[in-house]
Amino acid sequence: MLIGVGICLGVLTALWVGWNLTLDALWQPTDLATVRRILFLAQVKQGETVVDLGCGDGRIVITAARMFGARGIGVEIDPARVLWARAWASFAGVSSRVRILRKDMYKADLLHEADVVVLFLSPDANYKLQDKLLRELRPGVRIVSYYHPMWGWEPNEIGVAKTGYPIYLYRMSEREQTIE
Ligand SMILES: C[S@@+](CC[C@H](N)C(=O)[O-])C[C@H]1O[C@@H](n2cnc3c(N)ncnc32)[C@H](O)[C@@H]1O
Repeated sequence: MLIGVGICLGVLTALWVGWNLTLDALWQPTDLATVRRILFLAQVKQGETVVDLGCGDGRIVITAARMFGARGIGVEIDPARVLWARAWASFAGVSSRVRILRKDMYKADLLHEADVVVLFLSPDANYKLQDKLLRELRPGVRIVSYYHPMWGWEPNEIGVAKTGYPIYLYRMSEREQTIE
């Protein structure tokens, strides 16, 4: 019986890890000092809505709600991390201001709500998202991408994370409406 359960858990874990490897961005949580730098660089204000595409365990939107009084929307494709993020938001007492949605970020229809969009993904994922960001974000929205720049866009500002890696800030009103 125990061996059967062990084998089942092993197979499920292998399938989960294998499926994760097919994603454009693997899970790698941002350290909490860098999370704060990202949100400071974006100048998040009370009542603004911060969207994290690929939110992992929700740490960015939860910190935005706790420290900055913002609203957060985390979009995550992995159901296990969605559950974890919802539990953390609840534990942190910010469930009323943080929504964690189990969605594919390429298809999510919520960017019109954003004041700030946070990305910590991959060069491929940033490239695939650029057209969507240009079409759906309002002028004035700030995009902050940790580690990976946006293709062909000149950042308005570049911060440095505690890790030494760059944090790129882009303001939508100043963006060319094309991707080079
Ligand atoms: C590098 S992690 C960043 C996690 C979090 N934003 C942070 O900074 O701690 C990238 C996350 O994107 C998620 N992801 C990858 N492809 C996705 C997709 N198509 N839709 C939604 N989430 C996705 C992964 O599951 C992973 O949790």
